[in-house]
Amino acid sequence: MAIRQILTAPDPRLKQKSKTVDAVDDGLRRLMDDMLDTMYDAPGIGLAAVQLGVPKRVVVMDVSREGEPAAPQHFVNPEILWASDELATYEEGCLSVPEHYADVARPARCRVRFLDYQGEIRELEADGLMATCLQHEIDHLEGVLFVDHLSTVKRSMILRKLTKQKRLTGV
Ligand code: NI
Repeated sequence: MAIRQILTAPDPRLKQKSKTVDAVDDGLRRLMDDMLDTMYDAPGIGLAAVQLGVPKRVVVMDVSREGEPAAPQHFVNPEILWASDELATYEEGCLSVPEHYADVARPARCRVRFLDYQGEIRELEADGLMATCLQHEIDHLEGVLFVDHLSTVKRSMILRKLTKQKRLTGV
């Protein structure tokens, strides 16, 4: 288990489309363990493999509240089967867009099919924070960041600030 470096926008590697995973093996489980370590350390509630520069369709999440026991979840090849017409708005952030937050409206509920840590096929119906987080993470697999849901003006303002920050810190 290890903490890895999280890529931050703007970075062309975050814009790539992640590839379908062929098999859930020990190598992939090691990647998922590293992803959770990195996410908890950040700290964050969700992370896609591509944020570590690994373009595979893998997501980890833990949306348990503070004071509740940890509830790590693994999603390999997650696929949205259904999304509600009803929308919900959450203030979103992203470990790849540090220190910037903005309201994003997404379907309030969704049904997702995926492979779990053991490689078993599972389906899950999510609402609330879980539904938002799942859609945010699945966006990452398509090279989409939450800022891509904002107006061009807002997006370029955030990306300009991040670019300036990178130059200052040399990251
Ligand atoms: Ni994100």
